[in-house]
Amino acid sequence: MNQTTERVAVITGGSLGIGEAISTQLLNLGWNVHILARRASNYVHADHGSCRTHDVDVRDLDAVNESAHAVATSAGHVDALILCAGVGYPTPIRSASRAQYDELFDTNVAGSIFSTQAFMPLLRDGKAVVTFVSSIAGRRGFADWSLYCASKHALEGFAASMRDELRPRRIRVTSVQPGSVDTPSYDHLQPEDKKEFMDPESIAELTVAAIQLPPQACVETLFVNNAVGDL
Ligand SMILES: NC(=O)c1ccc[n+]([C@@H]2O[C@H](COP(=O)([O-])OP(=O)(O)OC[C@H]3O[C@@H](n4cnc5c(N)ncnc54)[C@H](OP(=O)(O)O)[C@@H]3O)[C@@H](O)[C@H]2O)c1
Repeated sequence: MNQTTERVAVITGGSLGIGEAISTQLLNLGWNVHILARRASNYVHADHGSCRTHDVDVRDLDAVNESAHAVATSAGHVDALILCAGVGYPTPIRSASRAQYDELFDTNVAGSIFSTQAFMPLLRDGKAVVTFVSSIAGRRGFADWSLYCASKHALEGFAASMRDELRPRRIRVTSVQPGSVDTPSYDHLQPEDKKEFMDPESIAELTVAAIQLPPQACVETLFVNNAVGDL
């Protein structure tokens, strides 16, 4: 396969949890996958021949731009850009700190915005899909999670604007809004507390299906809630 026929995905936060499941499913489908994360090289299939890892903190814009340059040099184009790197934890407003705000917004919002900016020139016109892994917290508010919800609402505003901005290039934009998913970010919970959580593979399957739709079809929003309702 030459550089123009290769399907190339770039995924921030592709080393663990929902992102790991998306990376693995894309690799299994024959995609070339570039993973950006602080410890991307820890990804379980990092040694797969079609996988490249970039140890990058998405809050470090110079490092993100350097990895975009590396992808431009090695792959030349991007068919799927998936913005999945994110952090989330409760921040009851009576005790929320500026440091928590900075971490949540710098990672979930600025990290996604400036990773999009860095990789945008590489997206293939008429084909590419940009996928923001947002959250049910980008649709609703939840007591004690206000800073995380605010960050995901900001991400939704950016995603909606990108959908319009990239339409002239026929680049599609999807916002994925999962409910609660059993990933390493919830390792601190007891199994009993997570028994109604979804598995990351289910979210990945739907996300990958949306990415692989023909270029005439755009899944704008993929809201997947827990069967029992909001958790
Ligand atoms: N789990 C849920 O219930 C749930 C529900 C709705 C939405 N989401 C969203 O889904 C996304 C993934 O969540 P998850 O639960 O799968 O989390 P996770 O298991 O903790 O994985 C987070 C991923 O993001 C990377 N990451 C975190 N901070 C980063 C940074 N500053 N720079 C680069 N990479 C960074 C992590 O790698 P490193 O630590 O090596 O950097 C890891 O690959 C997040 O955006 C989250 O908000 C999760």
